[in-house]
Amino acid sequence: MNKRFPHLIDLDNYPVSSWNSIINLAMDIKRNQHIYVGACSGRIMATLFYEPSTRTQMSFQSAMLRLGGGIIGFDNPATSSVAKGESIKDTTKIASGYSDIIVMRHFLEGSVKAAALTADCPVVNAGDGGHLHPTQTLTDLLTLKAEKGTLNGLTVGFCGDLKNGRTVHSLLKALSCYNNNKFVLISTNELKVPTYIKDRISASGKEYVEANSLEEAIPELDVLYMTRIQRERFGSEEEYERQKNVFCLDEKKMKAAKKDMIVLHPLPRVDEITLEVDDDPRALYFKQANYGMYVRMSLILSILNEDIKTKPLLVGKEAVGIRCGNPKCITNAESTLKGSFRHHGGILECEFCDERLLME
Ligand code: NCD
Repeated sequence: MNKRFPHLIDLDNYPVSSWNSIINLAMDIKRNQHIYVGACSGRIMATLFYEPSTRTQMSFQSAMLRLGGGIIGFDNPATSSVAKGESIKDTTKIASGYSDIIVMRHFLEGSVKAAALTADCPVVNAGDGGHLHPTQTLTDLLTLKAEKGTLNGLTVGFCGDLKNGRTVHSLLKALSCYNNNKFVLISTNELKVPTYIKDRISASGKEYVEANSLEEAIPELDVLYMTRIQRERFGSEEEYERQKNVFCLDEKKMKAAKKDMIVLHPLPRVDEITLEVDDDPRALYFKQANYGMYVRMSLILSILNEDIKTKPLLVGKEAVGIRCGNPKCITNAESTLKGSFRHHGGILECEFCDERLLME
């Protein structure tokens, strides 16, 4: 029987008190870095990246190196046994025997949860397809706490690809757990926030409005979270072409924003923020990327010190004869993996990718 490790697949795996502790510890690490040198000496982190990454991978690696630990892994699956057809299950099992913590990014939704089910060490989700990205959310929460002084009472605008943007999904769920936040969801009709996320916002008693004009929405915002259109998640180049360049934040729009509104972006930027905005003191996206390293130092330390209370990874049940309807779900790619579903009245929800299936 697998020991229950403090895996981070979705921030829901940890209580909000643990998110707050991770954020507070990150602030202390940023202020007093010298105290933490060597805190993870002798420990090894494996980074298994099946999808491109700059910030997430490098910030995790530099976080571990700054804590005195070592790193192994790959960022090009073509040079690992993945190229020979090895399953996620087997690769993770092996990597977990060589390391104390695994950080994994994969293009299939629910894939990191699947990996955690067989790993013999804690596994952290560094992005699973268009689904979730909890460590970017910790980065965003730390940035908000440090720069706005609070995680409550904020009107936050999200703009761009809200359908495929995993950072948006994780952050909306997280900010719904704090008090009196409001959300303005700015996108085209095709790229709206998935229904299950909107239901989570409503269930938490928070308000949201959907909008299609950044110009009209910007004056009321305390925070603007820009995102790129996720080209790699579209079925065809034509679909992407129709969506790109719809929203662009420029100096003119910044003039209509509050004097203390801040602009965040998980990066990379394509063309949704013009370069001149970089010189505006309210543009904090580069600073945000730097906060990401401190929050990952804090997360690694908290996980390895077992300072986090955890919940079971799966609470639903196998539904006999039913497969998840999402072609990008890991349960449809790894044939040995059994589906698991939560029941909500007449709805079944896949526990790997959150796709909903209507029952007859
Ligand atoms: C994001 C991601 O990978 O989801 N980047 C990141 O981790 N900082 C955003 C994106 O790729 O658009």
